Amino acid sequence: MGFLLGVDSSTTATKAVLIDEDGSVRGIGVAGYGFSTPRPLWSEQEPGLWWDGAVEAIGSVLRSTGVSGADIAAVGLTGQMHGAVLLDRAGAVLRPAILWNDQRTSAECDLIRAVVGAERLIAITGNDALTGFTAPKLMWVREHEPDVWRRIKHVLLPKDYVRLRLTGEYAVDKADGAGTLLFDLAARDWSVEILSALEIEHAWMPTAWEGPQVTGSVNEEAAAATGLRLGTPVVAGAGDQAANAVGVGAVAPGTMALSLGTSGVIFAATDRPIFEPHGRLHAFCHAVPDRWHMMSVMLSAAGSLRWFRDALAPGVEYATLVADAESVPAGSGGLWFLPYLTGERSPHPDPLARGAFVGLTLAHDRRHMTRAVLEGVAFGLRDGLDLMISAGMPRPGQIRASGGGMASPLWRQILADVLGGEIATVNTSEGAAYGAALLAAVGAGWYTSVDAACAALVTATVAASPGEDASRYAEAHAVYRDLYPALAPSFKRM
Ligand code: XUL
Repeated sequence: MGFLLGVDSSTTATKAVLIDEDGSVRGIGVAGYGFSTPRPLWSEQEPGLWWDGAVEAIGSVLRSTGVSGADIAAVGLTGQMHGAVLLDRAGAVLRPAILWNDQRTSAECDLIRAVVGAERLIAITGNDALTGFTAPKLMWVREHEPDVWRRIKHVLLPKDYVRLRLTGEYAVDKADGAGTLLFDLAARDWSVEILSALEIEHAWMPTAWEGPQVTGSVNEEAAAATGLRLGTPVVAGAGDQAANAVGVGAVAPGTMALSLGTSGVIFAATDRPIFEPHGRLHAFCHAVPDRWHMMSVMLSAAGSLRWFRDALAPGVEYATLVADAESVPAGSGGLWFLPYLTGERSPHPDPLARGAFVGLTLAHDRRHMTRAVLEGVAFGLRDGLDLMISAGMPRPGQIRASGGGMASPLWRQILADVLGGEIATVNTSEGAAYGAALLAAVGAGWYTSVDAACAALVTATVAASPGEDASRYAEAHAVYRDLYPALAPSFKRM
């Protein structure tokens, strides 16, 4: 019996998921850690935490399952995207990594648009300059920490620091590479034009591989630390969004992934590099060779419901809150909620956008407000989906959904009605780590392609289909769509 391991280095923990030949999850090891906010808007983490986390999580899953490292056929890596890991010639860490959720670089984003040209930047990379991406972080270090800048010899992404410690190789996958804003999206490799315009050394960038390709193998030191066998192949893997899409089987055009956690992400695979001309969506390489993906990101999705519960119904179970809302008909009795509690990314890239209840009357109570939150999140996701379709993405057939929000049957039904597609759940909830293990299955030669691995190991169950409320929601969504443009000038003044 052979096994595969997927390792996810997220912002809060490293998770190692062990799967068997049937794709069943045999065990999970988790090691938690924190990140620091040395100043408002900053977000940093020591790369050593990811390595220590990987050692602990891998050791723990091997111990708890009794599986020997010798029986693991391959390892796949995934993790938080966009973080800047800066290393010297010897591979030593020069400063804490600057993470995806760090917001210090708005001046550098303006500078990148000015130096490259805003349209040219989108034409090459598929994306506008966002504070979360890697390139503006490098520019910030050059401006503010010249001593660090002078010593940089290697730039890596978070999971690739774990790869370095596991295998001794400097490598990245193409999905994560595209999230740096230094990639030529169509060519699936570093953009010489962008690198030279921004005066960033090409030689600092690791070799970029397709997700299932083997980039190296476990070295002696790592074998001793983790219990893995010396020589175990390690595949490129993918950034967490692309790996999650593999984990739910959203690998070919027509099947989309929806992740409804704190944030809400709609992810669609494409067979060519499609991007939104104003950069209001993310366009990256997929973890599947020669495929790309578009992504719409809502910052407060299930996070909106959490806020509502904590602020207005503290101590009430989510199930009770949502069950009460079921007694209110679709449309929440003429009440709308805007979910922009932490600003927004897609389709309104606006850090100053704010949340709102609009249409309150004496007839409304908590039930209407709860339902309006569920509907408002669905309407905001629909805005992102519409933008993806207008940018050239095919209409969704099935939407493979994951995340905490999926626990609610009412929310699933609202999403099916509003998004206009079947909402399906899959056989595992291990998301990105599971997807990384599937990429390892291809790298180990168990399957000839990522499509074949997903077809064999990921099964979907339809949880909700568009129903009779869909037309009522279409009318309510038309009102919703007018609210952000009407309120945006006030948000700015607030
Ligand atoms: C994707 C993104 C997040 C991070 C955090 O663009 O910023 O998914 O990768 O996990």
